[in-house]
Amino acid sequence: MLSPQENIILVGFMGTGKSSLGRLIAKKTGRRFVDIDQMVVQSESREISQIFKESGEDYFRRIETFLLGTLKAGSGLVIATGGGIVTQPENIPLLRAQGFVVWLQADEDEIFNRVSRNSNRPLLQTEDPRKTISDLLARRHPLYEAACHFSVDTTHLSHKQAADAVISEETRRISVQNNV
Ligand code: S3P
Repeated sequence: MLSPQENIILVGFMGTGKSSLGRLIAKKTGRRFVDIDQMVVQSESREISQIFKESGEDYFRRIETFLLGTLKAGSGLVIATGGGIVTQPENIPLLRAQGFVVWLQADEDEIFNRVSRNSNRPLLQTEDPRKTISDLLARRHPLYEAACHFSVDTTHLSHKQAADAVISEETRRISVQNNV
């Protein structure tokens, strides 16, 4: 039986499916879904692209960290985070203290295909988005690794398969904890 209490926190690069998978995992496990990007948008009453343009990335990062800190461990949530949440060093222990952190991975080509479908992401409004993705991925790889308890490569998985992989690992983890 799943613990309804532990938060499941999804981290990973833009386009790895954090929000859509998060919604599915929430539905399958009876948890409530929250999306930190959406929390930022609501608290600022502005879109993310507007926040970046008008107030800068540092400002966005401060709001993101503040809102992450308002979530409490053991609240029975599925939390989708923004792809850059791991870039703030204080967020890594915070994420790990708040629940089961899952890193959703995908191949670079697949990420590029997925994010090319929309132009909402301020960090990818560059002359060479493909290179930007490659550079950001290289820089962030060790940060996601440090933040996560578990990782799933979603490149060749359906949403259902990826959600099931997360849920079965969470179930295993809870049963190990309960047997100690
Ligand atoms: C960002 C990812 C975005 C959003 C913002 C910055 C990043 O979220 O938080 O545009 O730094 O990778 P998604 O990963 O949900 O696209």
